[in-house]
Amino acid sequence: MALFNNIAIRALALLAVAAFGIPAQIVKPKNPLRDRPEVVAAGRTLYNKTCTMCHGRDGTEGDRAPSLNANRRYFRLSEAAIFDSVKNGIPGTAMPASGLTDLEVWRIVAFIRNIRGTASDNAGSGDSGNGMLVFTGLGGCARCHMIRGQGGTIGPDLSSIGAQVTLERLQDALTKAGPIPAGYRPVMVTTLTGDVVQGVARNDDSFSIQILDEKNTLHLFDKQELRSIAYSKQSLMPHDYDKVLSSSQFRDLMAMLSRQARTKIKMEQQGENEIGR
Ligand code: HEC
Ligand code: HEC
Repeated sequence: MALFNNIAIRALALLAVAAFGIPAQIVKPKNPLRDRPEVVAAGRTLYNKTCTMCHGRDGTEGDRAPSLNANRRYFRLSEAAIFDSVKNGIPGTAMPASGLTDLEVWRIVAFIRNIRGTASDNAGSGDSGNGMLVFTGLGGCARCHMIRGQGGTIGPDLSSIGAQVTLERLQDALTKAGPIPAGYRPVMVTTLTGDVVQGVARNDDSFSIQILDEKNTLHLFDKQELRSIAYSKQSLMPHDYDKVLSSSQFRDLMAMLSRQARTKIKMEQQGENEIGR
């Protein structure tokens, strides 16, 4: 009877798969230890023992690896993606597989998430709906940035910005000039025939250059066909929004951006290959 039951259950399960299609969804692992303080503390100790040959102590910047806690943009956002990069390493980079057990890796994941404190963890009060109006209207942000598929591409996609940067860095991006990340350097070229093209330099080597212009068109040039190439030191990103917007518009915009924490499936799986890291 037990045997029969077993077979019957299996047959039912097969039937279910046949009827509803193969469940093709990716099962994302969740941290079985959660983020209790003692787990975070154990993760910190383990991290300081295992990872500081490249990263800095307590997640700061090290000689051979980026900081895990400070003012930069993160590319591995979900716990599953952080787990994967610590467990298996990041292909094509110096970041190695750790050789730790799953539970050890989860402790470190809890620690890393604890020190990050991204904007989405600290989103202030403010009217996100109104913030979106500033984004598409007065602020002109949507001319250059995309959120969930809407907007321009000359600036970084901001669909997950709340999960990628700290609140402080988000504020700085809108109010202070900083170094221009790779892939966003403004450039103007003149061809041998006298045509002028302006935009940001996306892929730039000794022989060729790709330029993305403000209409989202990508131009590819052989450097031999160019009369001149002029780079600008000033980013296309305006840095005076604290002055251009009223304080309530600024607050609403910050609230809206902080809540953009949509991690794309692709991002969750691998951590990205996005430009400008
Ligand atoms: C041999 C040097 C090295 C060691 C050892 C190392 N890392 Fe890394 N790690 C790197 C480098 C380099 C990167 C940046 C990879 C890239 O360009 O994406 C990185 C990236 C990361 C990232 C992704 C950061 C992001 O923004 O997406 C995490 C998380 C990370 N390391 C955690 C760890 C942990 C935890 C350990 C210890 C178990 C560790 N690393 C050990 C070199 C190292
Ligand atoms: C004329 C085009 C343009 C406009 C308008 C613009 N940006 Fe940007 N923005 C950029 C570019 C290009 C970058 C990347 C280069 C840089 O950071 O200097 C950038 C960078 C950023 C960053 C940093 C992203 C990161 O990953 O660190 C944020 C946040 C941002 N912009 C938000 C906004 C918001 C909000 C507005 C409107 C209030 C806005 N931008 C208006 C072009 C623009």
